[in-house]
Amino acid sequence: SRPIGVAVLGMGNVGTEVVRILTDKAADLQARVGAPLELRGVAVRDTTRTRDGVDPALLTDDPMALVQRDDVDLVVELIGGIKPARKLILTALEGGKSVVTANKALMAEHAGELSKAAEDRRVDLYFEASVAGAIPVIRPLTQSLAGDSVTRVAGIVNGTTNFILSEMGESGAGYGKVLAEAGRLGYAEADPTADVEGYDAASKAAILASIAFHSRVTASEVHREGITGISAKDFDAAKKFDCTIKLLAICERIDVDGEQKISARVYPALVPLDHPLATVNGAFNAVAVEAENAGRLMFYGQGAGGAPTASAVLGDLVMAARNRVFDGRGPLESTYAGLPVASIDEV
Ligand code: HSE
Repeated sequence: SRPIGVAVLGMGNVGTEVVRILTDKAADLQARVGAPLELRGVAVRDTTRTRDGVDPALLTDDPMALVQRDDVDLVVELIGGIKPARKLILTALEGGKSVVTANKALMAEHAGELSKAAEDRRVDLYFEASVAGAIPVIRPLTQSLAGDSVTRVAGIVNGTTNFILSEMGESGAGYGKVLAEAGRLGYAEADPTADVEGYDAASKAAILASIAFHSRVTASEVHREGITGISAKDFDAAKKFDCTIKLLAICERIDVDGEQKISARVYPALVPLDHPLATVNGAFNAVAVEAENAGRLMFYGQGAGGAPTASAVLGDLVMAARNRVFDGRGPLESTYAGLPVASIDEV
């Protein structure tokens, strides 16, 4: 098949890892997609800065021109925020290109408009990386559980605050010091206010509630409390009750006077030490899903950081590229049909 042209917008922690994997794993990715993935350009703010492993000729500071190129089939948006990401994604979709994004703020606010643009042109808009980093949670909710009725989604969806709360709980370390460390490790947002005030988790809760309940919930509709008011004293008090403190996002269907409503909220909560969520530490995330027929499912893994989040981006990229190569009729499972049978000597 002809190559699939890829444009990457943004080269922060995640973008850098995406470009690295596209380069290092080109042969594997080609085998899975059925065509080579070719990087056409990387949009950055500063084109004069050298970036390891990236041909300087690929760098551009004009993302709109890159998105509109005829030889670009797939756009990976990793700039974050609403402006200019929304316009860039809309332009890409309207131009018949598929889009992969990690942008939770944008998906939490404009998912309706963007999904419609994708549907109109019969292209893909995938956003697995927007919630809980490496953890597959969007695809399970939108595909694997498409025949079930989800009643509740709850968990820890912000790595930075979980890292801070875990450190404070374990070592009594000061808030400021731990926050700076989270930034150094590449977990925190460019402006960590979004993490510590709960905005990041509220965006993720809005996305989860929307897809889990086939509804439209925006971030401003999520009740939100951050962790800036939590001190060592609160941890001491929690310990007395055999509890720890976690920033939880909880989305559920509730019955209000016989009417079905959705509740979505983010707040620091007391979690008993013997509860599975109490053992989720550092930048790890965990999401529990309850569905009428499936019962309870737990998803756990690295919820922040360059490489883990890039893993989710690449998964979406492979699926979107395959849909192009096989005209939407190529589930990855079909790849296995052509593989030779492995001989297993001993297990
Ligand atoms: N700042 C986010 C977090 C990154 O800490 O979870 C992943 O969305």
